[in-house]
Amino acid sequence: EQIEKGGYEHFMLKEIHEQPNAIRDTYRGRLLANEGIIRMAGIDDNLEKFLNANRIIIVACGTSWHAGLVAEYIFEDLARIPVEVEYASEFRYRNPVITDKDVVIAISQSGETADTLAAIKLAKSKGAFVFGVCNVVGSTIARETNAGAYTHAGPEIGVASTKAFTTQITVLTLIALKLAKANGSMSKTVFHSHLQELELIPDKVKEALKADKHIKEVAHIYKDAKNCLYLGRGYNFPVALEGALKLKEISYIHAEGYPAAEMKHGPIALIDDQMPVFVIATKKGHYEKVVSNIQEIKSRSGKIIGIVTKGDIDVKKVADHVIEVPETIESLTPLLTTIPLQLLSYHIAVMLDKNVDQPRNLAKSVTVE
Ligand code: G6P
Repeated sequence: EQIEKGGYEHFMLKEIHEQPNAIRDTYRGRLLANEGIIRMAGIDDNLEKFLNANRIIIVACGTSWHAGLVAEYIFEDLARIPVEVEYASEFRYRNPVITDKDVVIAISQSGETADTLAAIKLAKSKGAFVFGVCNVVGSTIARETNAGAYTHAGPEIGVASTKAFTTQITVLTLIALKLAKANGSMSKTVFHSHLQELELIPDKVKEALKADKHIKEVAHIYKDAKNCLYLGRGYNFPVALEGALKLKEISYIHAEGYPAAEMKHGPIALIDDQMPVFVIATKKGHYEKVVSNIQEIKSRSGKIIGIVTKGDIDVKKVADHVIEVPETIESLTPLLTTIPLQLLSYHIAVMLDKNVDQPRNLAKSVTVE
């Protein structure tokens, strides 16, 4: 097992650090930035299905559902296709309206999650075209779907999902870009610049990982918190949900993710000087609005940890700590802002002496209801 961990103390830490390569493996052979092409057989062969779809319904569970939420922003913003994101466990039992004009995308790292599989079967029985985004090659969901694209993240052993999440977002970005170009929602020039920026992401993730030492110091300060709040807007709202989930899963600290602006309708009542609030406040994406949300937290004595773009000035002035990530285009920020939140949860769990790779009560893949 020590050999499998490749010198890291835990699989989770290894998998966090594998992300630059995992993301590169995800787009290898698919993203041809110089030629301005995205090649994905599963999409190319079924392009008409996607282009004629009334909407895309994404079904998933857990972290994969968070990747689905990020994809909702990506597909609607870039490709102008209406998207609904559903917990597979709710979708399968709520008698949903599905027709043969719907495309369903099922996201699953393991490809074995029982609820997701049942949602796929239901959608297929109603005539929808079902596309799978799985990591495990040959898994049940990969076989049950009409077509699909693997994430190629390599084995993920840690129960708390890390590289599966960022590689799912990468695949979904590739699909959205391909559709945006095919349906004319994106100009050739903008498409090219997206491809070039996506190609730079692995190096930027590598840079984001360099903040590890500083993140460990921040983790040490907040490790004894009883509750934490995670806030983000737009593309980074699902990242806030994922950040909170990571902390809950492995450190057993109660954490909630919320859209930053929605805070005033509830969670703001919880804020006092004992409440760390992790706020994603990158330059691209409602920056001024998030800064004013941060001021609202500050005036209630909350402790603010900002996830900011390198060189940020405004958040630094008001936050207790900032963690920097490199700059990128808005739709790709989740791939970077997720990294410090993964590391933070990891370090807090280690400091609290928790079983990081196999947290209590959780399973890597939930194959029963
Ligand atoms: C379990 C795992 C999570 C995962 C979820 C969905 O709860 O602990 O990490 O996100 O299942 O799994 P899937 O394999 O379908 O992505």
